[in-house]
Amino acid sequence: MSQTSAMPEERRVVTVLFADVMGSTALGEELDPEDMRALLALYYATAKDVVAQHGGTVEKFIGDAVMAVFGLQQAHGDDPERALSAALELRDRVRSDAKLGERFPIRIGVNTGEVVAAREHDAGDFLVTGDVVNVAARLQQAAAPWSVMCGERTARAARATFAFADRISLDAKGKRQPVSAYALNGRLDRPSALRVPLLGRDADLEQLELVARRAFAEQRPFLVSVIAPAGTGKTRLLEEFLDRLPRTHENAQVAIAQCLPYGQRLTYWPLRAVLYRLVGLTEDALPTQVREQIAAWLARNDFAGHGATANLLAATVGAGEGEVTDRAALFSAWRDTIEFASTRGPLVLVFEDLHWSADSLLDLVEYVMQPRADAPVLMIALTRPELLDRRPNWGGGRRNHLALTLEPLAESAVTRLVEHLLESARPDVVQRIVKRSEGNPFYAGELVRSLIERTSSLTDVRAVEEALANLPDTVQATVLARLDLLDASSRRVLQVGAVFGRTFRVRGVAEVDGLDDASVALLCQDLIIKDLVRHVGSDDYTFRHILIREVAYQTLTRGERARLHAAAGRWLEAQATGREEALAELIAYHYREAVGRVPREAARSHRFVHPPCTGSRRRRKRLPPAPRRLRPRGTFERRSS
Ligand SMILES: Nc1ncnc2c1ncn2[C@@H]1O[C@H](COP(=O)(O)OP(=O)(O)O)[C@@H](O)[C@H]1O
Ligand SMILES: [Mg+2]
Repeated sequence: MSQTSAMPEERRVVTVLFADVMGSTALGEELDPEDMRALLALYYATAKDVVAQHGGTVEKFIGDAVMAVFGLQQAHGDDPERALSAALELRDRVRSDAKLGERFPIRIGVNTGEVVAAREHDAGDFLVTGDVVNVAARLQQAAAPWSVMCGERTARAARATFAFADRISLDAKGKRQPVSAYALNGRLDRPSALRVPLLGRDADLEQLELVARRAFAEQRPFLVSVIAPAGTGKTRLLEEFLDRLPRTHENAQVAIAQCLPYGQRLTYWPLRAVLYRLVGLTEDALPTQVREQIAAWLARNDFAGHGATANLLAATVGAGEGEVTDRAALFSAWRDTIEFASTRGPLVLVFEDLHWSADSLLDLVEYVMQPRADAPVLMIALTRPELLDRRPNWGGGRRNHLALTLEPLAESAVTRLVEHLLESARPDVVQRIVKRSEGNPFYAGELVRSLIERTSSLTDVRAVEEALANLPDTVQATVLARLDLLDASSRRVLQVGAVFGRTFRVRGVAEVDGLDDASVALLCQDLIIKDLVRHVGSDDYTFRHILIREVAYQTLTRGERARLHAAAGRWLEAQATGREEALAELIAYHYREAVGRVPREAARSHRFVHPPCTGSRRRRKRLPPAPRRLRPRGTFERRSS
């Protein structure tokens, strides 16, 4: 999958977890070294398992301290949440362990920030350098036993799913500024969100409703795949569809299988919620009850062979009497069940975030789509385009498959969204955010949120610009996750292309990076298929979204940026004959960047540099005064987007 190894060094935003055992020195005195060693081995193994389950990597064991990093080789888009979830699980597992629980009161620090990651050549290990690591250690020292202390950026990124205590301020050795810290209270039961009304998407909603009507009226199963990158609004569209469903189909049953990005021990785990919903099982049902109730549900409805089917279904959700080994039997049990459930009323079956699903689950979804009988079933799969990398023919050849690709949200809708969230129709600020989010409502919401957090008034022009120039970590993470899925050479094209700006030429990239045109052109074809760039002219490509360019650029170290800008400047100069005048400013820009302006403190590396807009220079407009203090209206929910 990811091959970031091609880059010797990269800048990245990661989340670091530090855990250590309180009072271990005293414990070391008290215990025999061999016993201590055995306990430590158990503790390390637990930590390793938990971290791996959440997609992180254990970086070091130092004495009784564990350091793990999330988002290092592969950003997931939700690494702060993963780290917190891992922290809670590690704490709970150690605390409830018969051997460790009494003796190993651990405390944990979690912090998010930028590092330079370098791969050590021989070992293939990463070396992570950055202040974020020291601060994570400091946070951990400030945590009470069995508790988790988080840094500012972690808490910000994870606030939609986790609850934190009020901010406290820690003095940290060797740091001029005190460090903000938030004790983790736990997971939020229901992610907090005040929903914004659905804006735009009329045609998409109508199309979904039309398919539903046909599937139900004609008793013909349909699969609709709603495909779009993270944050485009797949989940929101589905919510609206489901909210409106009872108006036309009062007796419709809805079951949702949520695929998870991590911590998933069972391939078919997402089906658990479906089964529980259909059968009417409750969360606390014991495995034997699960089997009995499924059998009873099937029997009550005269389902032939209900005993064997009940066992298979129970096995899918980890409540069976043995492992599932017969895949064919399992698949047909599920198909039977879905057809059977639909005899009681129209059935809507949703697979959310299917791009995260295991291959076997994809096979199962495709299989149950080939119905043998008339059945009013509508299956809806919400997925990012990454699914098509794994399954280029997803849904293809099926008679009843519809691929609904969500386009970016219309500018007018994003404008209304931003005005709503900002509680202000100040055109300058609104338009800036709209422009920057380019039709991605998640980005728009996060930009509004970070603006509100960072500035107290919209009249402070500098503060507004500063806040908008800083890319929120949540946005950075979702984009980086996509880039990390690319193979090294495609990723490199984006990185080098980003040095040129929003638009780049194949020749330029090839020249600057010492490649031949043909291979770069080929890689660009792949990037088009992945919807990361668009072809805009004979040799010109442009980043599909401005933020893709920014994030790709940010992964370059300062040294690398300087080198590439110098090479870009030279290449442009060579091209300039006869057009010197027109290109002068651009060439000068590259040379300026090559000299490497020493970043001010404010120029935190996740701040990016805009190439100059050719033609008119950017003018700073004064913003009209704000009538009242900024206050967030609906909070933005950050689900698994
Ligand atoms: N059409 C829309 N109108 C209003 N808000 C929207 C719309 N589409 C998305 N949003 C909001 O944008 C954010 C991201 O949308 P979401 O549906 O979670 O994206 P996805 O599921 O594609 O990752 C959510 O907070 C959602 O409520
Ligand atoms: Mg979603």
